[in-house]
Amino acid sequence: MSRTLKMGMIGGGPGSMIGDIHRITATASGNAKLVCGAFSSTLEKSLIKGKELGLKKDRIYESYQEMIEKESKLDENERMDFVAIVTPNHLHFEMAKLALEAGFHVICDKPLAFDYAEALEFQKVVNKAKGEFAMTYTYRGYPLLEKARELVESGHLGEIRKVKVDYSQGWLSQLIEAEGHKQASWRTDPEKSGKGGTIADIGTHAFNLLESVSGLKVKSLMADVSILVEGRKNDDDTNVLLEMENGAKGYLSASQICTGEDQDLSLHIYGSKAGLIWNHNQPNLLTIKYPDFKEESIKGLKKESKENSEFNIPGHSPYFTEAFQRIYEGFFDNILKEESKSDFVKASIDDGVRGMVFIEKALKSSDERKWVSL
Ligand SMILES: NC(=O)c1ccc[n+]([C@@H]2O[C@H](COP(=O)([O-])OP(=O)(O)OC[C@H]3O[C@@H](n4cnc5c(N)ncnc54)[C@H](O)[C@@H]3O)[C@@H](O)[C@H]2O)c1
Repeated sequence: MSRTLKMGMIGGGPGSMIGDIHRITATASGNAKLVCGAFSSTLEKSLIKGKELGLKKDRIYESYQEMIEKESKLDENERMDFVAIVTPNHLHFEMAKLALEAGFHVICDKPLAFDYAEALEFQKVVNKAKGEFAMTYTYRGYPLLEKARELVESGHLGEIRKVKVDYSQGWLSQLIEAEGHKQASWRTDPEKSGKGGTIADIGTHAFNLLESVSGLKVKSLMADVSILVEGRKNDDDTNVLLEMENGAKGYLSASQICTGEDQDLSLHIYGSKAGLIWNHNQPNLLTIKYPDFKEESIKGLKKESKENSEFNIPGHSPYFTEAFQRIYEGFFDNILKEESKSDFVKASIDDGVRGMVFIEKALKSSDERKWVSL
């Protein structure tokens, strides 16, 4: 890298789920350094986090508005180059808009926005902005999913005829939001999660994974979006039949009430010559199946154990953190206009908008009990 980029963060305060992963993986290679943050909705919590991370007090802000205003006034050598937005979904747009309009680069977690209408406004802002914009669709960072994309693109599987993606989690199998569980509380609140609960939280991951690896857009769908835990305000289980743009058929399932499941994400793509299977429980293995029932295993790189390193984050495999790091490296290449090792890792505003149209149309289909075009 030609220079070290200066990172700011919005969100990722004490006890947050994904904030530390953003910070650690963005800075792990030394290509970026955290210089400021508005880590929480209160100054007190923002200060706790900022001090823990060794930031100067005057670079720990009470609000994202204050951060963007004050950082804009600093000398170019000092002020942040980019900001990572890692807050609940309903805040993404207003934060990104302010940062992009002030000339900063922005990387934002998924789902893009509150709803599809807001996503379209978001797209206009990004298209007008001078800065770069990227999204952290984590699974795009897995090297073997990039390999899977190459296999599909090269025609190794033949004509794609059937696709399946399933993302099953179990952490919302009980009404834990009633006990004040931090992450469950906003995800199950339609005012904060946006249009869609589980379908927004992990359905968009599954949808992006399917479209990006298959290279095919979903043309129409028939969805059944449900609330299966009594007392919940937002959907927690989604089952969708799909028709892809080339006529291939398939389905997408996303659920957070699959009791006992952690991160059970799998992708199957079947073509006329071969089938391809990837499972998050074994993310370093890609299986190719042939008509004579022979199988080929493609293994990724053997990851060295980083047991004592900050990079080894409890509850997350080193492959997950590696994926995040690869996404950040792709974003940095864009900012610095440097040649990239991978374009696959770079999820754009258009990927974000696709995620939001998926939510919108699946909810419509489920409400009206009919097939809907995307
Ligand atoms: N890419 C992935 O794999 C992945 C995984 C988990 C979460 N996410 C996404 O990341 C985002 C955050 O999710 P999470 O689980 O870490 O949530 P969280 O509740 O654990 O953390 C959210 C953080 O945002 C802070 N915050 C809230 N309002 C704020 C404001 N006005 N200003 C500054 N900070 C504010 C909170 O204090 C908290 O620290 C969500 O959009 C979620 O969908 C993505």
